[in-house]
Amino acid sequence: MAKNTASFTCQNCGAVYGRWQGRCEACGEWNTISEEGAAADRAGPGRSARKGRVFTLEPLSGESLDAPRLASGIPELDRVTGGGFVRGSVLLLGGDPGIGKSTLLIQATAALAQGGHRAIYISGEEAIAQVRLRADRLGLAKAPVELASETSVEDIIATLSQGKTPRLIIIDSIQTMWTDAVESAPGTVTQVRGAAQALIRFAKRSGAAVILVGHVTKDGQIAGPRVVEHMVDAVLSFEGDGAHQFRILRAVKNRFGPTDEIGVFEMTGMGLREVSNPSELFLSERDLGSPGTVVFAGIEGTRPLLVEFQALVAPTSLGTPRRSVVGWDSSRLSMVLAVLEAHCGVKLGGHDVYLNVAGGLRINEPAADLAAAAALVSSLAGASLPAEAVYFGEISLSGAIRPVAQSAARLKEAAKLGFTKAFAPDASRTDGGSDSGLSVTAIGNLTDLVADIAASGRRAKGPPRIAAQDG
Ligand code: TYD
Ligand code: MG
Repeated sequence: MAKNTASFTCQNCGAVYGRWQGRCEACGEWNTISEEGAAADRAGPGRSARKGRVFTLEPLSGESLDAPRLASGIPELDRVTGGGFVRGSVLLLGGDPGIGKSTLLIQATAALAQGGHRAIYISGEEAIAQVRLRADRLGLAKAPVELASETSVEDIIATLSQGKTPRLIIIDSIQTMWTDAVESAPGTVTQVRGAAQALIRFAKRSGAAVILVGHVTKDGQIAGPRVVEHMVDAVLSFEGDGAHQFRILRAVKNRFGPTDEIGVFEMTGMGLREVSNPSELFLSERDLGSPGTVVFAGIEGTRPLLVEFQALVAPTSLGTPRRSVVGWDSSRLSMVLAVLEAHCGVKLGGHDVYLNVAGGLRINEPAADLAAAAALVSSLAGASLPAEAVYFGEISLSGAIRPVAQSAARLKEAAKLGFTKAFAPDASRTDGGSDSGLSVTAIGNLTDLVADIAASGRRAKGPPRIAAQDG
């Protein structure tokens, strides 16, 4: 009798169990395990053992060719992929629903098709009419893109294997695809994995670049098994929030290029527009001269990026004060608050603290510590910071300000945008500070900055609010 091959798979992380259980031991989620057919990649009992083929092993030295790339014609996209789509590679694009994944990809497909390459767009979510409607709205209806609304991976591969090899294939989205090789229902982890596997094999065999669109769950993970992220060559994430028209494309993983570059787009009525100078955009709605706002001179990949940090520190009416942060790391905020309390005498235990990065951008750099601290102290003291100054520097737990990478590039960008002052770690004065034209105030310790802001607050208006907190 055939062995029962049913297995139980966690729909969150893809862990496989022999029996059902309430909680996944691998990822800790409850009620995510459901019964599925055996995974396609496991050799079934029917398969005969194949004798291995002998292959030659290669030395480490030898000719290495650059990955053959195909520029998309959208420079912000090419910046993130590392110079274009690599032939025979598979890229996964994740992002919230409605963020603009389909829009970005139809624009890229149309640009390639207009450049004379065979480009195919397969939608598993939308009917052809819907895709056409979008292309029409983007003014791309004339582009020689080949369209289909299909979900069967076998049919798709059979169709794509005919005729001239396509250069670019979009699969929108991987969660809607299903393969005959796997018995479980579409959308399950095993199906997503099976479909991705088949498409990856096709990409390697044919040399076409394949882009898979992936949905994102509530907490920002690409839905379906994490293994798909490991299987593909690159994972890009498309971010932004509903309230802003800015969209950030970020590489999470890239076998053929850097992972720290970002691409900036703006969603307009005519589709996604590239933003080649994002600093100007993020500072365009600046709130000049109000306490709690500060400009951070950051770096994303190789590109300097100036953004505004906004803080609001207000007496709390709750037993436990609120700490709320948008666009920055909440544990770094806790650290900065702790350093302010422990070393600078800034007592925030009775205050709610809100920190926001303007424009819907998410900053990961520790170099933003100093800007965040300046915004917080400025809000608490009711003292506005100089509008012509930028801030950067990493705060250590002792309160010392540590140097950060690429000071020269940060200062140069600030000078280009009309800033004249910088508050930065000591090393920045020598590290390119002199030739940027900015007057750099070296901050050795966070206490210096706090004293400086508190003094300007006292000059500006009445009683010193920081000193009143002391003791
Ligand atoms: P879409 O690309 O369908 O998102 P996704 O594939 O990530 O789910 O984009 C949907 C949103 O973008 C929708 O809310 C409308 C908006 N949009 C514009 O603002 N301008 C445009 O030109 C297009 C095509 C869409
Ligand atoms: Mg879509």
